[in-house]
Amino acid sequence: MKRSEINQIIRDGEDFFRQSNFCLPEWSFWSWETWQKKDKKDIHEILEKELGWDITDFGLNNFREKGLFLFTVRNGATAEAGYDKPYCEKIMILEDQQVCLLHFHWDKVEDIINRGGGTLKLQFYNATADEALDKVSPVVVYVDGIKQVIQAGGVLSLAPGQSVTLPQRLYHSFWGEGKVLIGEVSKINDDHTDNRFYESIPRFPEIEEDEPIYHPLTKDYSRLS
Ligand SMILES: [Fe+2]
Repeated sequence: MKRSEINQIIRDGEDFFRQSNFCLPEWSFWSWETWQKKDKKDIHEILEKELGWDITDFGLNNFREKGLFLFTVRNGATAEAGYDKPYCEKIMILEDQQVCLLHFHWDKVEDIINRGGGTLKLQFYNATADEALDKVSPVVVYVDGIKQVIQAGGVLSLAPGQSVTLPQRLYHSFWGEGKVLIGEVSKINDDHTDNRFYESIPRFPEIEEDEPIYHPLTKDYSRLS
């Protein structure tokens, strides 16, 4: 993705968050120059747990159709890792008909929440033992705590306010009918190790630097000295 495209997507996202009355942390508005002046010891949680802006086109160069806009609000680690904060929260935006591609998580259990806007559509398959799509066995999910059984490959619709709990090894893709503000509340998130995409695609985009950074993506944190 070009940096200019990422910058514009963030600006548009900021507008949508404002319209939706979803307020981001103060540091979300820092410029790249401000980030570079910060003492890394003070902001180590943001840097190490990769809080912040996260735009992906899954390396396919077609963000408008296959992509996802995310902002990680909070994220932690296990007590065993010396940092007892076992949860994560993200806020996401999907454009009308924009798809987050089919994947599951080996470890993360997540609630996906329609926070407002259009209808959120989710398609599900159980994973087989060798991580293929199980096109036979029905899928069991909980929608706001109520059990639902859906046929393999079936589509669930979530209206604003509704949410679904996704267990481990449940393949899911999702898209918006209309622009949707999406919440995610989950176990600890690790996007480097815990995404099993059905198609072999990267989680993070390559970036072509054609203009200065507006706000850094989490993958830009490694460039802070
Ligand atoms: Fe997921």
